Amino acid sequence: MIYLNGRFMPLEEAAIPVLDRGFIFGDGVYEVIPAYSRLPFRLAEHLRRLQHSLDAIGLKNPHTDAEWGALIEALIGHNAGADQYLYLHITRGVAKRDHAFPKGVTPTVFMMSNPLLPPAPELKTSGVSAITVIDNRWLRCDIKSISLLPNVLLRQQAVEAGATEAVLLRDGFLTEGSASNIFVVRDGIVLAPPKNNLMLPGITYDLVLELAAADGIPTQIGPVPEAIVKRADELWLTSSTREVLPITVLDGQAVGNGRPGPLFTRMDALYQQYKATVMRQPS
Ligand code: PDD
Repeated sequence: MIYLNGRFMPLEEAAIPVLDRGFIFGDGVYEVIPAYSRLPFRLAEHLRRLQHSLDAIGLKNPHTDAEWGALIEALIGHNAGADQYLYLHITRGVAKRDHAFPKGVTPTVFMMSNPLLPPAPELKTSGVSAITVIDNRWLRCDIKSISLLPNVLLRQQAVEAGATEAVLLRDGFLTEGSASNIFVVRDGIVLAPPKNNLMLPGITYDLVLELAAADGIPTQIGPVPEAIVKRADELWLTSSTREVLPITVLDGQAVGNGRPGPLFTRMDALYQQYKATVMRQPS
């Protein structure tokens, strides 16, 4: 079952008017929230980022956090499976095509759930491959915008090169992946680009830095030059659906010794432990 504008319904029954500004302009924002054991993971953080995205595009939040919480609980309840990934999508609504914001229009609110499968074990034992690509997106990558054409094209470039992810470089510095954040390990230190307008502030990114700090893993947040990315001991990608994964091949070359590194193994253990602890807590 999906949720559309106040009602739960089967996916097949859901329909959106063609003049929806999400369809016409990509005028909307979204969130992807994992749920483990039927409990949303880091919900407060996801709702805070949603608010940031809505504020950035001048769209009033159609719901309070408590309302979102209830809707999300109901969505999980309407769908099978212990682990689900929840997709929330809000557009500026339906209006005659005109770029400027329409007045008095109700936003479109859509939510769906899909089964959330943990990354296949071989992805963690062998790692994934990536290519570096010039980040040619706009300058508001902090907004989780539904206008994903640039990300789609960058990811497709990776797929056509036989790789899993595109590692994006802007003006000689690392920004993020086409649908993930990227960490670099160099000389035992975890390097991360700063959260700014050039990347999406990942919920997993924050969690990885939190877990590293709690476990005494040295981290350094700051611009990461392309040369360091290309000479990394380890590279990781992170996202809500893919957790933390090692990138072991970059542009056809081995990253470090070509195997997932020791800090990845440590971080993955911390991540799995954290997930298990959160799931045991009553909500
Ligand atoms: N994407 N950067 C980009 C461009 C992303 O699209 C994503 C996630 C991330 C990681 O953010 P988080 O850790 O909060 O998932 C970073 C989601 C999963 C998607 O579009 O499906």
